[in-house]
Amino acid sequence: MTNELRPIPSDFAAKALIDDAGYLKMYAQSVDNPETFWGEQGKRLDWMKPYTRVKNTSFEYPDVSIKWYEDGELNVSANCIDRHLATRGDQVAIIWEGDDPSSDKKITYKELHEHVCRLANVYKELGVEKGDRVILYMPMIPEAAYAMLACARIGAVHSIVFGGFSADALADRVTGSQAKLLVTTDEGLRGGRSVPLKANCDKALAKVAHDVKMVVVQHTGGDIAMREGLDFWYHEQTQKVSADCQPEAMNAEDPLFILYTSGSTGMPKGVVHTTGGYLVYASMTHEYVFDHQDGDIYWCTADVGWVTGHSYIVYGPLANGATTLMFEGVPTYPSPSRFWDVCEKHKVTVFYTAPTAIRALMGAGEEHVKGADLSSLRLLGSVGEPINPEAWKWYDEVVGEGRCPIVDTWWQTETGGILITPIPGATETKPGSATRPFFGVQPVILDTEGVVQTSVEAEGVLCIKDSWPGQMRTVYGDHERFVSTYFETFKGYYFTGDGCRRDADGYYWITGRVDDVINVSGHRMGTAEVESALVAHEKVSEAAVVGFPHDIKGQGIYAYVTLMEGEEPSEELRKELVTWVRKEIGPIASPDLIQWAPGLPKTRSGKIMRRILRKIAENDYDALGDTSTLADPSVVADLIEHRANA
Ligand code: PRX
Repeated sequence: MTNELRPIPSDFAAKALIDDAGYLKMYAQSVDNPETFWGEQGKRLDWMKPYTRVKNTSFEYPDVSIKWYEDGELNVSANCIDRHLATRGDQVAIIWEGDDPSSDKKITYKELHEHVCRLANVYKELGVEKGDRVILYMPMIPEAAYAMLACARIGAVHSIVFGGFSADALADRVTGSQAKLLVTTDEGLRGGRSVPLKANCDKALAKVAHDVKMVVVQHTGGDIAMREGLDFWYHEQTQKVSADCQPEAMNAEDPLFILYTSGSTGMPKGVVHTTGGYLVYASMTHEYVFDHQDGDIYWCTADVGWVTGHSYIVYGPLANGATTLMFEGVPTYPSPSRFWDVCEKHKVTVFYTAPTAIRALMGAGEEHVKGADLSSLRLLGSVGEPINPEAWKWYDEVVGEGRCPIVDTWWQTETGGILITPIPGATETKPGSATRPFFGVQPVILDTEGVVQTSVEAEGVLCIKDSWPGQMRTVYGDHERFVSTYFETFKGYYFTGDGCRRDADGYYWITGRVDDVINVSGHRMGTAEVESALVAHEKVSEAAVVGFPHDIKGQGIYAYVTLMEGEEPSEELRKELVTWVRKEIGPIASPDLIQWAPGLPKTRSGKIMRRILRKIAENDYDALGDTSTLADPSVVADLIEHRANA
């Protein structure tokens, strides 16, 4: 790790929105007087009924309560579309780049308005009302953004299920949210291959007890089955309804969306974000972190199935009247030049991606970058996992040509928006550090006993003191789980689940999760989820899953599997288990390595000692620690001897 500060490139600094003195002044205001600060920031949105109360929040366990702008009323789609029509009606809102490099389109704010209004009217005709849940299972096409904004327009709550999740995972979320409607496409396209989205929906709904209607976008023209009276074509229905739909007045604290994410225990939980505070925060962070200026062509390569896609492809940029690029494909199709070709083709100015993609493209060779004209780029961003300094430097030198600041943005599904990040015109960077807090964010580092580390240099778990407007409000249907997951361990603080170091300059370095969550290619996966998928297989008696360092993915999935009495390990069974997990959860949960474990290291009370399993998976036998408390210490030697290798 390097401690050297990278100066802000001077051409960038000359035109940036704010400099360091500006950042320090605003940061001080934001924490000294949050009411005034956020009261002012709230004005970046159009309110149907102005708020009189800005902040009403408490992290006191167990009476945690978070409300922002609580008596205000507004509509998110009106803020992302209607209010721009007078000044930006003919400006491009969304640039769509298809999986196939010859397919693209541009949608202006005026066109976006019409698409969203029509779909909102279709929702209404299908019986969707304010507060109802709508599940979106979509590829990266403009209709995914229309579908989100149309929900927001009528006050329905969307819950996007990533198109890479299996039918089983989709069924759980449809049932969990009791959704009335599912929006999907015939098929998705990724890297030249089709993904059977509608067929997955059919399989999922076969497992759902209540009736769910479907709106189906015709995208590839693939052959699919339509249920009479329940499934409707998007292109037919949207032509039958009016092109105008009045936006519903929503309370600031009405839910905007639910997004399921993995935790350290149990099944994924539905993170609930609300309307006013979320949009203020998404808009403000998008503006300051990406130094948003008129004329920018902004590209975030995430998928709308993850929170990054919600806040930084759709809501933040559109609230700011930006031009946002949506990409359907993958970084390596048809060649590893694809990202850079798209940057050149659409003259992208701000580019935001994940370390896993950077590492994969770095491995493909510099020549793929050098072939493209990247002179339009002025700012680069990273998100999803710690970025290793080598990847950071390659991004800086080869992609950014030393001209573009890099913003390494740390945040979570729960936080709604970016919490720790450089402000590009203000913050000198260090490769691998997320640097300093965003306005209103007060990070604290605690030791495992919960003692706050007051020295500048410190290491421990990362918590946040006091609320920010974009924070999640509850776990859908289980407020107690919200309170116990985030506020019980360290009383009075929001517990992030991440480890962190603060250096002598007060810069934050995220060191990774301290709980049983692993981060695979920037996607969060609960080890408990993968374990429960494995033990659901009839030949598996027990399973323990841990992360291990992986060159491209950051972390890979390492599974220890104990078979039922009488079952024999085989290569065939290994493949069968991988296929099984893909079916239960989705390809992103596929174990990279499976080790047959006749026994697992357990304490005398039967608790699996994951610390030991992690060390074996990491090939770090010297640090196994004390194994004398194990019920049967000999299992460790056996596990080491038979460690799985790629
Ligand atoms: O461990 C942190 C890691 O990703 C987790 C959040 O995952 P998710 O909710 O899926 O959201 C990802 C996109 C915001 C965090 O707890 N993480 C995210 N960004 C960074 C990061 N770790 C280090 N540096 C980052 N910039």
